[in-house]
Amino acid sequence: MIDSVDKMLPVASLSSKKLVFSAAQDADRALELGVFYLAVPDNIDLDVARQFGHDLLAPHTSYRDIPQYGELEGFIALDNNQQTKLALQRERWDAHYPPQIARFGRQLDEIGVAIMREVLGQSGIPETLWEKASGGYALGKGTAFLNFVHYDTRSTALGLRPHTDYGFITILDATLPGLQIQINGEFVDVPVLPNHFVINFGEALHFITQYSNRCVGAVVHRVVTQCPENPTRHGIVYFANPDLDGLLWQFNAKGDAMGHSSVTGLFAQLEQRLTY
Ligand SMILES: [Fe+2]
Repeated sequence: MIDSVDKMLPVASLSSKKLVFSAAQDADRALELGVFYLAVPDNIDLDVARQFGHDLLAPHTSYRDIPQYGELEGFIALDNNQQTKLALQRERWDAHYPPQIARFGRQLDEIGVAIMREVLGQSGIPETLWEKASGGYALGKGTAFLNFVHYDTRSTALGLRPHTDYGFITILDATLPGLQIQINGEFVDVPVLPNHFVINFGEALHFITQYSNRCVGAVVHRVVTQCPENPTRHGIVYFANPDLDGLLWQFNAKGDAMGHSSVTGLFAQLEQRLTY
């Protein structure tokens, strides 16, 4: 039985906006697993972002007044897990986040685009089709969410139930252990590696690479139940998504269109399949 993937998970870094693995087989393994560590780029001030996440716990912070926008944005607590969050998509960062946090979000945009372009490069899908395939995201459009989460231990539910993410790429900064990924049917720990993000792939990335030279998988993951006697687990989560009103296209490496879906249609399908 595998207890931990710390010896196995590949580690990447960004160099001149390009994703670099120390060995070619690490890139293969990362794309196969759908998860890897990424060294936090030097220009990112993670402490400021983490502090913002902590400050949100104060009951009287003005950030508590941020309105709810639909089901996905605002302060959200779901009843089947411990995670509670402040979630906002890119268009609202400047309106509601402090300037340095909105800037932090845009730095994560750059990371997301770099990872997206690496995967699409390896997929063999012609570059002229990347914008269409990715619902705009590969060219810095699409949608992104920057969420600040913590785990409410008044509930004894799982921290976060097993699921795959719906979008393309998730960038996670977590301060404490608890994340697990499923490998060969078993959940194994993903230890916190200081000064590294955990990157994982989602269903939309699987969808658009399905007929390409490099079909990548969406990794099933969960967060174990957090206990009240431990410090509060905080996380910063960035989701790279297509334009939510748009389309996703599946191309092969010759550039032939093999299929497409509306983003809402794909997400609704996933919802039916994945809701626990
Ligand atoms: Fe997730």
